Amino acid sequence: MEDFTPLRISTIKPNTQILFNLYIYFKDHFLLYKENGLTIGEDLFKKLKEQKIARFFITATEEVNYQKYLDKLLNDTMSKDDVPVTEKATLAEGVAGTAVERMKKDPNSRLAYNMTTQAAGTLRKAVANNKEALKMIMGKKVEEDSIIVKHCLNVSSLSAKLAEMRKIDSAMVDNIAIAALIHDLSITRSDAAEQALHRRPKKTLTVDELKIYNNHPRNTADLLQDKPYINATIMELVLNHEETLSGSGPQKKKKLTPEEEILSIVDCYDKKVSLFDMSPKQAVQSMTIDELGNYGLDLINDLKKLLKEEDII
Ligand SMILES: [Fe+2]
Ligand SMILES: [Fe+2]
Repeated sequence: MEDFTPLRISTIKPNTQILFNLYIYFKDHFLLYKENGLTIGEDLFKKLKEQKIARFFITATEEVNYQKYLDKLLNDTMSKDDVPVTEKATLAEGVAGTAVERMKKDPNSRLAYNMTTQAAGTLRKAVANNKEALKMIMGKKVEEDSIIVKHCLNVSSLSAKLAEMRKIDSAMVDNIAIAALIHDLSITRSDAAEQALHRRPKKTLTVDELKIYNNHPRNTADLLQDKPYINATIMELVLNHEETLSGSGPQKKKKLTPEEEILSIVDCYDKKVSLFDMSPKQAVQSMTIDELGNYGLDLINDLKKLLKEEDII
């Protein structure tokens, strides 16, 4: 059977010419939905949303054409002052979601990784340049089976913003934003039982469950290893994303680089919100009570300040 690649429907703009055949997945089959060269009207998008169809598919051989289409769409949208923030946030979120889902499907795909770096930059710029964008992206509700992917998007956009606030060098902010998008890749590929472990706070896990849980940073790094196009800093960030200053992480590291501490604190915060269903307010409170000693107090305070500035708490 032909190989199909998923893409979020939010990365296709209504009334623009598509440069590839678009398929939908329906009753166990891939059906040709729109042919190369045609456009999709807004009414059809509305219908798809009503039918809860969130993804199109393209054949793997057309990925390059999709990438070209997307490059143009991002160019035409993200830096234009007259495009509303909602549209920018939706597109950035859609591109990042598509990239992470492609990495989930094929961690060895260089095209998927390239799209991930592009998506991380898009998210970073969207939240840096548009007030409200961070709140919109982080506040988006998703279906249960997309929660880990959503968590990765949240961690990417919030950690990039926090890193900029902490005056981290720009190339390093990119590393953080990229690493965040793929930091939990192995979880997105694991079975329901293992995924369920990530919906519970660590302290409620049994010894055996904790062992499985603690393997996920290493498993993710294993999925990404031996790829010359993924730099060593990103690999370290992925491997160390659960480490804390108190040594409570899987590798029991106590010394973290500033970028590792930022990724870890944001991951910790967003787990509370996205995976343990706390409100942002409750999560921040828990950061100052339960995570004291795991992160520097000034970093906890900066996170709090940022969430306030962004109108999230
Ligand atoms: Fe994790
Ligand atoms: Fe995570």
